[in-house]
Amino acid sequence: MATNWTTYRELLLPTAPGRRRGVETELRRAVRDGRLAPGTRLPSSRDLADQLGVARGTVTAAYEQLVGEGYLVAKRGSGTTVTAACTWPDSFPAEPPPTPRWRYDLRPGLPALNAFPREEWSQAQKSSLLDLPVDDLGYPDPAGYAPLRRELADYLGRVRAVAAGPSQVVVTNGAAEGLSLLGRTLRDAGHRTVAVEEPSHFGAAGMLASHGLEVLRVPVDDNGIQVDRLSTLDCRAVLVTAAHQFPLGVVLHPTRRHALLEWARGVDGLVIEDDYDAEHRYDRPATGAMQALDPTRVVHQGSTSKVLAPALRLGWLVLPSTLRDSVVERKRLDDLGTGTLPQAAFAHLLSSGGYDRHLRRTRHLYRTRRDALLSALAETLPAWHPIGVAAGLHVVVRLPPHTDDRSVQERLSHQGINALALSNYTTAPTFPALVLGYAALTPDRLRAAVRLMADTLTTP
Ligand SMILES: Cc1ncc(COP(=O)(O)O)c(C=O)c1O
Repeated sequence: MATNWTTYRELLLPTAPGRRRGVETELRRAVRDGRLAPGTRLPSSRDLADQLGVARGTVTAAYEQLVGEGYLVAKRGSGTTVTAACTWPDSFPAEPPPTPRWRYDLRPGLPALNAFPREEWSQAQKSSLLDLPVDDLGYPDPAGYAPLRRELADYLGRVRAVAAGPSQVVVTNGAAEGLSLLGRTLRDAGHRTVAVEEPSHFGAAGMLASHGLEVLRVPVDDNGIQVDRLSTLDCRAVLVTAAHQFPLGVVLHPTRRHALLEWARGVDGLVIEDDYDAEHRYDRPATGAMQALDPTRVVHQGSTSKVLAPALRLGWLVLPSTLRDSVVERKRLDDLGTGTLPQAAFAHLLSSGGYDRHLRRTRHLYRTRRDALLSALAETLPAWHPIGVAAGLHVVVRLPPHTDDRSVQERLSHQGINALALSNYTTAPTFPALVLGYAALTPDRLRAAVRLMADTLTTP
């Protein structure tokens, strides 16, 4: 920082408007950036006021303020000096560069963000805020806003056949926070390991591992997680995506559901049911949640991320009574609870039927998009085979045997197509495939993406 100033007028006047805040701001800035070096003795308040042409009181007030903040020290007899303790970086680290914008972003997990019901959400925000009892503006209930917990218990019972009262529902900042709370609660309760599906969501395994749990992987076949493999592991908790396995898209077979619950009872364990996109089923009504088969052994986990938008960070857990209090206490210690205002808006959207209406619209939208993608693939890349049930926001497409799916991902990325290889989701790849999210692209764009994929991969 340049230090070539000769008068205090020059140092402090460029932006100081002659008021106290101006003198104070410029003095603070000059100390921070080193133009006023540590140990510098400042003029008396009368002298500086004369030099700057401001009232003496303005300088006195600025000195007092900066002494209080620790930038200056005032000693009787030796005036006011710049403290030695101030260090200020020359510059701040740059923001990381923005992630590249893809020509066709087919990564799974995103809903159609431009279908977000902005009008209905604004109405819900406005009405819920106007109706909010004043006491509800205080610290929230760490378990979640009671009217939202009531609405969620009702909604989940109606749409997902979950068996729960409002007291078992805990509102979280997305399903991710729910999993994090569970990871720590399990660890505190003496668990050392947790099983996840293979393949599965890489973020979930990472989060559980970050709480000190060893993550064990159990393969998935056409009927879902291979439950018999669980009994060979030293483990009492498992995370499953029963209604629509992520990413393969298969549904956990009814026999396996029962076997899984039997395993949980046998080891005095827990099944975490990540119900991340179950509302989106296109060929038949969605398979109901496992939770109702044994509410004492299953934690049901859900989120608004795939229905509305991840930006809301609103999710929930439905907990067995044995876990409920420790999870709520964990949440209280973490953050004192999720903000009431978005929760109140969401409760309003649920009670007004706006959430159901939005789901009806997006179900139709995504079904059309899925059909467009699949017919474009069948026509243009017939050697690629989609697997899994007609559901969700993504589809896994098997590539011909011996294809290296990561190098396909790499080649497509050079053309601006973000299409993730199945190998990203597993430590033991069994077949090459791409995981294609279709919800965010219109049918025309999906068809164009498939054409470009075919052109890219057929060009040597
Ligand atoms: C399978 C699965 N579970 C959970 C989540 C996390 O959801 P949330 O955004 O509510 O944290 C995701 C998000 O991508 C997901 O794909």
